[in-house]
Amino acid sequence: MRKKISIIGSGNVGATAAHWAATRGLGDVVLLDVVDGVPQGKALDLSQAGPVDGFSVSITGSNDYDDTAGSDVVIMTAGLARRPGMSREDLLAKNVAIVKSCIAEAVKRSPGCVLIVVTNPIDAMVHTAYKVSNLPRERVIGMAGVLDSARYRAFLAQALDVAPRDVSAMVMGIHGDNMLPLARLANVSGIPVTDLLAADEIEAIVKRTQTGGAEIVGLLKTGSAFYTPGLAAVEMAEAVLTDSRRVMPCAAFLEGEFGFSGCFLGVPVVLGDGGIKRIVEFPLTDEERTAMEDSERVVRRQMESTGI
Ligand code: 2OP
Repeated sequence: MRKKISIIGSGNVGATAAHWAATRGLGDVVLLDVVDGVPQGKALDLSQAGPVDGFSVSITGSNDYDDTAGSDVVIMTAGLARRPGMSREDLLAKNVAIVKSCIAEAVKRSPGCVLIVVTNPIDAMVHTAYKVSNLPRERVIGMAGVLDSARYRAFLAQALDVAPRDVSAMVMGIHGDNMLPLARLANVSGIPVTDLLAADEIEAIVKRTQTGGAEIVGLLKTGSAFYTPGLAAVEMAEAVLTDSRRVMPCAAFLEGEFGFSGCFLGVPVVLGDGGIKRIVEFPLTDEERTAMEDSERVVRRQMESTGI
């Protein structure tokens, strides 16, 4: 029996996620949007790539939530995207209403699904989805750390002139300027990057990672990144659908892990059947803990302003 992935929002991120999910043959894809014709057109276009790319999963565009019924994974991408000069937080008021409505409709029809939330500001939006859905915390996951870590790894690989796939690095905390790219743990095939790059080079890469989203918004001018955000959400969905036990940084609801409770923060989790199998805790340095506490302060402030 094929798996089913529903993607809410057929904008750049949602349509790109559909593309990555199809080309990886993850399962049948439903691309849903409120705008008539757009999800249908993009799904029809993408489905016609099957004979060339080789995938045989179906891609359906729809404006009707009934078509998402029985989804194994629901990827929430609908919402406003940033424009130059905007912070992710500027999107909050409008996007919280969109997330509440979309999640309620989707989960009503797929009560057994795993939710992967991409809509910004992601840490508050995934918390909103958690509250609205009443799903257990292991089945409500925010996509941010995989994207931020991909940027971090790409910048490190560029600086070292090595294959990006051989760079392992992780970003924790909030999906925002206070995010925590961990230099201490970054390595190239096990070799610490702190043995390969000067401290000021690493610091510059950390800072570029923290503003990686804004850098792309500034270049595009009409929206934000979508190729890697879409792929990051699909990478998470694949781990869930194949029960692969991949370890990835995701926004998870903490109940004492790393000393935090009652909020979503980016932490390493084991992803598998049913979502988060467990959160992988490890000792933080004082500096890393301070950075996580900074993230927590901003996330809690965002949650307060959602009024949920
Ligand atoms: C980014 O960092 C859109 O928040 C997303 O590009």
